[in-house]
Amino acid sequence: MTAEAQVPTAPPPLDAMIATLRERHALVAAGGGERMKERHEGRGKVMVRQRIDLLLDPQTPFLELSPLAAWGLYRNEVPGAGIVTGIGMVSGRACMLIANDATVKGGSFFAETVRKHLRAQEIAEEHRLPCLYLVDCGGAFLPEQDRVFPDRDHFGGAFYNQCRMSAAGISQISLVFGGCTAGGAYIPALSDEVIMVKGTGRIHLGGPPIVKAAIHEIVDGETLGGAEMHTQVSGVADHLVLDEREGLAKLREIVASLGETGRLAPPSREPAPPLFDAAELTEIVPTDLRRPYDVREVIARMVDGSAFNAFKPDYGATLVCGFAHIHGYPVGIIANNGVLFSEAAVKGAHFIELCDQRQIPLLFLQNITGFMVGTEAERGGIAKHSAKLVYAVSNARVPKYTVLIGGSYGAGNYGMCGRGFRPRFLFSWPNARIATMSPEVAANVVTDLRRQSLKGAADEAAIAALDATTRAQFEAQSDPYYATARLWDDGIIEPAQTRDVIGLCLALAAGEPRDPSPRPVYRM
Ligand code: COA
Repeated sequence: MTAEAQVPTAPPPLDAMIATLRERHALVAAGGGERMKERHEGRGKVMVRQRIDLLLDPQTPFLELSPLAAWGLYRNEVPGAGIVTGIGMVSGRACMLIANDATVKGGSFFAETVRKHLRAQEIAEEHRLPCLYLVDCGGAFLPEQDRVFPDRDHFGGAFYNQCRMSAAGISQISLVFGGCTAGGAYIPALSDEVIMVKGTGRIHLGGPPIVKAAIHEIVDGETLGGAEMHTQVSGVADHLVLDEREGLAKLREIVASLGETGRLAPPSREPAPPLFDAAELTEIVPTDLRRPYDVREVIARMVDGSAFNAFKPDYGATLVCGFAHIHGYPVGIIANNGVLFSEAAVKGAHFIELCDQRQIPLLFLQNITGFMVGTEAERGGIAKHSAKLVYAVSNARVPKYTVLIGGSYGAGNYGMCGRGFRPRFLFSWPNARIATMSPEVAANVVTDLRRQSLKGAADEAAIAALDATTRAQFEAQSDPYYATARLWDDGIIEPAQTRDVIGLCLALAAGEPRDPSPRPVYRM
């Protein structure tokens, strides 16, 4: 191990991290690369993001989910995991779009593709959003079939979701652009209504090579599963369109006929911009997580009129709790301002119960190393007080949203509504770090454990090597790109975008019926 390897390098400033994020988003947006793009367009097909642009209502936002899924995996040859998902407005309704990118390995499914598809369906189901499938999909990516096909949350789960959502009245509509084989064929086959593009759209359970291998029949793809055959003979598809643009117009027409589904509820008060500029966040938020700052500076750049009605501001002050509005929608904010002590945990639990009783959604801004440790904290009952926060988070019935604005370590992740606590959405900033503990602490713990088990016979060179590998492991695995590649979040967003992203998320849930069941406030 070199001496340099032991010195932690200072992280770059936030604006440099944002520049890296933009570069990575741009790389992924190019899909499978220039050669595949030329081939795709040479067939008269339109790139997946352009299809989405053509489908959406003009001048409306598209909240893309997990654009950097599979980042750094498969030698970075599966950009976006070969699928684009996100929420956008179509014919005045908020819809979930699930669109294969055929320039990435024929739109076939890797493990992260499946996760991204299932996650989009989960969000759609929770918010009752119509699902629009823009299908161009070669089914399971065969070399990865054991990570894609057999388990509960693998490809089969996507079809289960489709059937259940359809039966629950959440529309499932497919527009077929390209070759859809096997699992790819089931996406349209299980949809409520199917549009197919003449010439390029194909649906077959087994494509020509499979048919040849299985029953020695030689047949071309168009005869086997073309749009004319399926709209005139098999009835698998319902509408034949001559090109992609006509198909997208037809899809907009179908969505327009869906009644009131997907309509966004108006805000409860007139939205007002914050008094402070969100661009200043790059100056305010240090990327070195050991450097403290006041999280109220972040809140002031996120909420309407920078108006924040703090709850118990002088008690348990390392957890900032309070009421605000974002884009006119009410929200209860819980944000870290240091280590969580017992008082802060109990205050957080009390505040969650208040929001639950008043049916105000919760926004967690995580920047947490964990709960306080040590004799004093344990004797003061930190285990039971922190558990109260975790308990309250778990049982809150209001929509919850989480943004990792800094560290997300240990049980702090649980108390602050990490992924296991089912926030409706979870986003990260590019400076976020997520792991059980920091590389520094992990290296100390692991080397201490090794020393103890060797009972004084420790080889110091081996301990130093263990220290280095543990640090390297925790550094690499707590990187936000490592996390987003594996779908542990719904995407990395820029700090200045957070207000708009959360505003849209709040709008999606604002029209949900109020739950009249009792909601006690125990004051913990
Ligand atoms: N598994 C593994 N690789 C696949 C794949 C799959 N299901 N589907 C496509 N690919 C790969 C191709 O091998 C090719 O890889 P390469 O660029 O490294 O050579 C790339 O994706 C593009 O495929 P290609 O056939 O050239 O594209 P296309 O646009 O002409 O056709 C499909 C797209 C999807 C119609 C066609 O690839 C196909 O029929 N794939 C097989 C589908 C299948 O049998 N699926 C069964 C899954 S259970």
